[in-house]
Amino acid sequence: MDKDRSFEVIENKFLGDDMYIIKAKGVFDVKNGQFYMLRTKSNYPLLSRPISVYNVDEDGISFLYKVVGEGTKAFSELKPGEEIILDGPYGNGFPEVSGKTALLGGGIGIAPLYMIARDMSKTDKCDAYLGFREVPVLIDEFEEYCNEVKFYLGDKFVTDIIDVDKYDNIMVCGPTPMMKKVVDMTEGKDINVYVSLENRMACGVGACLVCTCKTTGGNKRTCKDGPVFNAKEVIL
Ligand SMILES: Cc1cc2nc3c(=O)[nH]c(=O)nc-3n(C[C@H](O)[C@H](O)[C@H](O)COP(=O)(O)OP(=O)(O)OC[C@H]3O[C@@H](n4cnc5c(N)ncnc54)[C@H](O)[C@@H]3O)c2cc1C
Ligand code: FES
Repeated sequence: MDKDRSFEVIENKFLGDDMYIIKAKGVFDVKNGQFYMLRTKSNYPLLSRPISVYNVDEDGISFLYKVVGEGTKAFSELKPGEEIILDGPYGNGFPEVSGKTALLGGGIGIAPLYMIARDMSKTDKCDAYLGFREVPVLIDEFEEYCNEVKFYLGDKFVTDIIDVDKYDNIMVCGPTPMMKKVVDMTEGKDINVYVSLENRMACGVGACLVCTCKTTGGNKRTCKDGPVFNAKEVIL
C-alpha cells in the first residue's frame, strides 16, 4: 500500500438521510469541482469510488457522501483515527467565473458547489438553490457564504424555483433530468451553464472508458475531460 495516499480520518459525521461528511487530515491542493477516488484501508471496495471534494481547510479535506451501496457503506463505518486511501485530485473542476452566479444542487450534488460559494463570497456572492428528497443538509454552511439560499424538499427539482434570467453563470450538479431541465431553460440565452456529471467510473484516470459521455465534439471521458462540462458541449 502506498503510504502517501493513506490519510487519517478525523471526523465522519452522520447528517441524516444516509448522508455523511468524512474528513481526512492533511494538506491538499484542490480546484473546485475536482474529485478523489476513495477506498478503505482494508482494500474494500476493490475499485475505489469517485467522490467530489466538499471542502478543504487548514486541517484537511472533507467529502460529503450518501450511502447507496457497499462502498459508501464501508466509508460510513470508518472511525476517527482509522485510515482512508485517497487518490487524486482528478478531473478538470469548475472554471472561475465572475458576475451573478447561481449554484444548483440536487441531493448529494450539492457537494462540489460549496467551495464555489466560499471562494466567490470574497467577490460576487452566489445564490444557491438546493434540493433534497427528505432532509435538508448544510443549509447554514451555504448561507454563510451565499447571498440567498433556497431549498426544496420532495420530488420536484430546484429548477422549479429559479429565475435563470437573473444570472450570468449557473453551476449545476444533480440528477440528469434536473441538469437537462436547466439546459432547456437556458437554451438560446446568454448564460454560461456548467454541469458536473456523475457517470459511473472504474479507473478514474482516463484509461478504461467506463465513464464515457457524449459531447458535440464526440465521446469524452467524464473522469479526465470532465466531470465539469459546458452545457453547450455535453449531450445529456
Ligand atoms: C465525479 C463524481 C463525483 C461524485 N461525487 C459524489 C459525492 O460527492 N458524494 C456522493 O455521495 N457520491 C458521489 N458520486 C457518486 C458515487 O461515486 C457513487 O454513489 C458511489 O460510487 C457508489 O458506490 P457504492 O459502492 O456505495 O454503491 P454501488 O454498489 O456501486 O451502487 C449502488 C447503487 O448506486 C448506483 N450508483 C453507483 N454509482 C453511481 C453514480 N456514479 N451515479 C448514479 N448512480 C450510481 C448503482 O447503480 C446502484 O444502484 C460521484 C460520482 C462521480 C462520478
Ligand atoms: S473511469 Fe476509466 S476512463 Fe473514466
